[in-house]
Amino acid sequence: MVKIKKIFAREILDSRGVPTIEVDVWISRGIGRASVPSGKSKGKYEALELRDNDKRFHGKGVKKAIQNINSTIAQGLVDMDCTKQAKIDNRLIKLDKTPNKSNLGANAILAASMACARIGALASGKELYSHLGKWKKLPIPCFNIINGGQHAGNKLAFQEYMIIPVRFHSFKERLRAGSEIYHELKDILEKRYGKKAINIGDEGGFAPQLSKVEMPLKLITQAIGQAGYERKVNIGLDCAANEFFKNKKYVVDGRSLTTKQLVDFYAELVEKYPIISIEDPFAEDEFKAFADLKCKIGKKVMIVGDDLLATNPERIKKAIRSRSCSCLLLKPNQIGTVTEAIKAANLAKKAGWNVMASHRSGETNDPFIADLAVAIGARYIKAGAPCRGERLAKYNRLLRIEEQLS
Ligand code: PGA
Ligand code: ZN
Repeated sequence: MVKIKKIFAREILDSRGVPTIEVDVWISRGIGRASVPSGKSKGKYEALELRDNDKRFHGKGVKKAIQNINSTIAQGLVDMDCTKQAKIDNRLIKLDKTPNKSNLGANAILAASMACARIGALASGKELYSHLGKWKKLPIPCFNIINGGQHAGNKLAFQEYMIIPVRFHSFKERLRAGSEIYHELKDILEKRYGKKAINIGDEGGFAPQLSKVEMPLKLITQAIGQAGYERKVNIGLDCAANEFFKNKKYVVDGRSLTTKQLVDFYAELVEKYPIISIEDPFAEDEFKAFADLKCKIGKKVMIVGDDLLATNPERIKKAIRSRSCSCLLLKPNQIGTVTEAIKAANLAKKAGWNVMASHRSGETNDPFIADLAVAIGARYIKAGAPCRGERLAKYNRLLRIEEQLS
């Protein structure tokens, strides 16, 4: 038994310069520190992120959440055994008492939960990934190299265009391929559209002024070929379709498409490009549309649920029943504790799905999800482009984990 002595939270800034929470948890021989990310294209079924909504930081301050950690949460966790993560998370859930963590704030609760996991690992003399789980395989990275939607100032309806280096023997080789293709794409964009095309979006991918959703697929396929990785690297999309769902139609390339038309459009894209994964192809309540797409192209392409599932067990169960997905996008801050995130991953895996561990568009340098991905045996991880410190923090952590495990 290693007792928690003290818990202290502070307001820090995330990669967009917006306040977020960092927590220190103390035991007699050290501290565990963690910080939480924040999304921009958030789904309505996510646990509540508590913001101050006052004058500071345009309403985005997190002082209330910090106060909740330094008072209620600290009082509730001090003297507990820091190596017992499930018990700690259970206590956090009880202290909050609401289904969506709206009382103390999911940002407050998750930051405390993650910091406890870190100190629990230290107290047990283990790496974080082996403290949290028994799996020892590295996930395949999905690098978001062209940004659209809410993450960029361009007209692209789809939010993320990812390259997925599938046919390689190590994480290290996958990271190298990701970086080489990223820089190949940079050259292509600059030669074709000039310097303004290589500005980057929130997740480190390029944000060129393109307006047709197919164009990035052409450019990325060209970059993969020129870098010499044809047939070794595939493409993944996060459409984040909630954001272009207007009056029951999907507004893509200036056209308003019905669900059926959008299903056909995705099927066409999959025929033309080496796409193996499509996330949130439809809005967050459209279980049936997801299932229709899966029925049509699901043998070739993984259907990933993000806003649809919100890392929430009830919604995951519903999607299992309705055959809507074949992969869970796992975002710990959608549900609010480390233990619940692990349970969500296990639920998805039991149904035969894949799991893709995910960062958020507003990040910190905390590489927690890298360890979590290894701990739960996630087949994939997405943490943005192979560019920008807060994105590389995750990929570089995985390089170190691979060294330890080989
Ligand atoms: P967000 O986007 O972090 O801005 O919500 C990430 C995603 O949709 O996967
Ligand atoms: Zn998404």
